[in-house]
Amino acid sequence: MISRARFTFYDLAPGEESFRDAVLNGLGRTPKSIPCKFFYDARGSALFEAICRLPEYYPTRTEVAILEENAAEIAAQIGPHSRLIEFGSGASTKARILLRALDRPAAYVPVDISREHLRDAAISLAEDFPSLAVVAVCADYTRPFPLPPLPGPSGKRVGFFPGSTIGNFEPDAAVDFLANYARILGAGGEMLIGVDLKKDPAILDAAYNDRAGVTAKFNLNLIERINRELDGDLDIDRFEHVAFYNEAEGRIEIYLRSLANQEAWIAGTPILFAEGELIHTEYSYKYSVPEFRALAAEANFRPVDTWTDPAELFSVHYFRVG
Ligand code: AVI
Repeated sequence: MISRARFTFYDLAPGEESFRDAVLNGLGRTPKSIPCKFFYDARGSALFEAICRLPEYYPTRTEVAILEENAAEIAAQIGPHSRLIEFGSGASTKARILLRALDRPAAYVPVDISREHLRDAAISLAEDFPSLAVVAVCADYTRPFPLPPLPGPSGKRVGFFPGSTIGNFEPDAAVDFLANYARILGAGGEMLIGVDLKKDPAILDAAYNDRAGVTAKFNLNLIERINRELDGDLDIDRFEHVAFYNEAEGRIEIYLRSLANQEAWIAGTPILFAEGELIHTEYSYKYSVPEFRALAAEANFRPVDTWTDPAELFSVHYFRVG
């Protein structure tokens, strides 16, 4: 734990072992898969930030516009002395919009799996908001973890989960995840969450198959990460990025496709790939406003308010626990 005046860093992240286990288990099964949380090493996080700036990837800029447009109303809803707990905080860009609008926030708790990225972002935020206590937690927030003691005796706990990361969970897992979030926030807790809306599939397909190929690089970085961290010898040129919208399931599906019959070694284990074989790497579910309210209700969240952009591409929901 590193402690400065108003900055604390807790490292609760699992080591390299769990990446190794996830890869060997996921590639040892049929169909093959690797959980999407492993996209976010330092390079993957940087590539994701590049995705967020792509012309085709509307979610980030649309959500930012919704937050900026409605910041005063959201801040009034949250009230004074709140403690903002953000899961998957990344560069904390969106939290800054809220923190600037909030009435004397007591603490900001960014939680992220990407250790160095989290540390840099949290330190820079602590420097820019000198009167705010910043408690950074490096953890796998997709599983229950103990929240460290938070500064500020009063003021509600407010969860912040932007970016439609909830869409990367399958619906049952999304309910479990939100129920855990509700427990962490406790009675009286509230949550602001960004959720990508259902829309014209052509817009969705373009957002996950950008012309500059950044999403492909982000997906293929998993191959490179395996080589870097798990002593792998995968040939990146013999895999390709695949993404499409499955309308029946209401989700984008992302895979790596093997372009040849090939054998590779990973952490001392041989793995066979058939030509055309798909490795599932991510789902990104899209929800209408009523669909998402129904899902959140299963996790004990009651709707308070919802904001969308004029083109109805993206939604930001405010919920209360209980
Ligand atoms: C983080 N998450 C919400 C992104 C999404 O849109 O599902 C991840 C992503 N994958 C490819 N592009 C962006």
